[in-house]
Amino acid sequence: MSRFLLTRTLDEHAAETALRDDVLHGLTTTPKTLPPKWFYDGRGSELFEEITRLPEYYPTRAEREILVARAAEIAAASGARTLVELGSGSSDKTRHLIAAMPALDLYVPVDVSESALAGAARTLQAEHPSLRVHALLADFTKALELPDSPGPRLVLFLGGTIGNLLPAERAAFLRAVRAMLSPGDALLLGTDLVKDEGTLVAAYDDAAGVTAEFNKNVLAVINRELDADFHPDDFAHVAVWDAEQEWIEMRLRARSELSVKIRALDLVVPFEAGEEMRTEVSAKFRQERVAAELAAAGLELSRWWTDAAGRFALSLATAA
Ligand code: SAH
Ligand code: AVI
Repeated sequence: MSRFLLTRTLDEHAAETALRDDVLHGLTTTPKTLPPKWFYDGRGSELFEEITRLPEYYPTRAEREILVARAAEIAAASGARTLVELGSGSSDKTRHLIAAMPALDLYVPVDVSESALAGAARTLQAEHPSLRVHALLADFTKALELPDSPGPRLVLFLGGTIGNLLPAERAAFLRAVRAMLSPGDALLLGTDLVKDEGTLVAAYDDAAGVTAEFNKNVLAVINRELDADFHPDDFAHVAVWDAEQEWIEMRLRARSELSVKIRALDLVVPFEAGEEMRTEVSAKFRQERVAAELAAAGLELSRWWTDAAGRFALSLATAA
């Protein structure tokens, strides 16, 4: 019986140091910010999966529609023997692509959420016993040490997660992806598209309050990992559309003046009543911007597919 491999490139100590650095920096600057990767402990990954099933959250369904319709084309265009997926989460949509790639030898999901990664690797390995699955617990914004893998390779970055990186981080990330590609390799990138404000805001502020709970989960992570005393109910979930930047911004707004002790940092953080802390940006794209950002990183947009309603896009890119 074949079994998947899981390599931890992040030990617990390194992850805690990274969280300490991000919290110390983010909560002592104005305005306060926290990087979105800290949403995803076991509970955060579960909440994200719940978000993907919400009526208001269209991106997952729209991207799945494209993958189902285009899997054979993508498989033929890439001829991939290795699939590397960054921020793979549950890998749920990826199965449509894997099913269309009978010559696939190796699947390498990469994620910071160990529970999501192990669950996805276990499920895929059970569904495809002859496929090698080598999961990497790693931060995709850092240098990745990929296992030896046969080419051609297709790098997947789905879900619109690229929109959660700030513009400078996105540029550095795409340059690093370009450096991973050998001739014949390709990138398949999922991007959510600019659309009307009402649809966008509803997707990030759902009626059932699941996104609010996901947003506040970062406070529970800091409480547990850094011995802090955030009370999640002291903060309100905020989702706003920034029409200039063309991104949704998620924030946590202090309901009153308060202070939070972060004992592991020996830090007391004051909040004014109404003060907002940014916890995520989720950039929305137009085709020209995707093509331009790929080109700036030495990548060429070769195919562009959208769902029938034009809400979400998948791009195939190769080294320019
Ligand atoms: N690709 C999946 C999951 C998207 S959720 C989908 O389309 O549904 C975003 C995923 O990226 C989460 O599983 C989260 O744990 C992971 N993630 C976020 N920041 C990361 C980082 N810096 N490095 C690695 N994984 C990251
Ligand atoms: C993972 N990422 C693409 C999601 C998004 O839509 O930006 C994260 C998310 N945040 C709130 N809801 C979903």
